[in-house]
Amino acid sequence: MNNIKNINNAKNLLSITDLNKSEILSILEKAEQFRKEKESNTKHTQFLKGKNIAMFFEKPSLRTKISFDSAVSSLGGNAILIDGREVAGTRESISDISNVLTGMVDGIFARVHEHSILTEMKENMNIPVLNALCNDFHPFQAFAELQTVMINFPNNFLEKKIVFIGDGCNVPTSLAQICAILGIDFEMCSPEKYTIPEKFWTEILKLAKKSGANITTSHIPTISAQNADVIVTDTWVSMGMEEEKSKRLKDFKDFSVTQDIMNRANKDAIFLHCLPAYRGLEVTEEVIDGKQSHVFEEAHCRLHTSKAILDFIYNA
Ligand code: CP
Ligand code: NVA
Repeated sequence: MNNIKNINNAKNLLSITDLNKSEILSILEKAEQFRKEKESNTKHTQFLKGKNIAMFFEKPSLRTKISFDSAVSSLGGNAILIDGREVAGTRESISDISNVLTGMVDGIFARVHEHSILTEMKENMNIPVLNALCNDFHPFQAFAELQTVMINFPNNFLEKKIVFIGDGCNVPTSLAQICAILGIDFEMCSPEKYTIPEKFWTEILKLAKKSGANITTSHIPTISAQNADVIVTDTWVSMGMEEEKSKRLKDFKDFSVTQDIMNRANKDAIFLHCLPAYRGLEVTEEVIDGKQSHVFEEAHCRLHTSKAILDFIYNA
């Protein structure tokens, strides 16, 4: 039997840009339904009954792994964990792994270094491929961020201004994409050489033109914070960049989210972080453990949004 290259016509989620505005909004609405069902102890529809989904992880995870596994089982399915570091690379090629798994499971949720691994999986599988984070994107996190914004600003979340202060890594790239598609104003504030890569930024600006979002860059946190409704940050040293740590800590030293930064934002502004967080670096203890912080609510939204994405992929 030959491999199945190029016949993947399943629904995939490699990047937020795989989705349009109405699909994103319906996933967010569904996430709210799942949140309310959980709060009232209502059993969800078991639409994943009989389905097995592989979770392939090349990097560590707490939230992504547990929220997805828990989402799959509470929808009636079964998640199987594969340590990507154990099977890929010298032991077996991604193409062979993909051709094997496509006949055994109903989907793969993969956390990898290179985005190209996800596209290679997609080319060699005819089951959904879902991005659990790669160096470029973190689409599941962007959904949790947006659901947290929705919960806190239920009447007008599309009119809020989101400001990301920190490194232009996977997390702000997916967040900028989701804002650009939905028409939400977004500012990326970073040291000059750490902004969102040009190849993604150009596409983000095109999406913003269509939706009417005001998408900007800045390099001065105290100015960016003004008029912000949501201030977001992430680690300055993403997984895989550990050898750059000492240089990055110096380059980012003026980009900590401090209480002074929060005080410059709108009065009811909230603080978000995907976690894990490094207190005293990208955010002070006072902010992350303070009243404006919604970081654990955001972490819990990873569960609700994972269910909603699974609903979109397998049940819509
Ligand atoms: N936020 C997030 O993706 O956390 P983990 O790396 O623990 O999955
Ligand atoms: N930017 C971080 C996100 C961790 C959830 C990283 O890639 O390590």
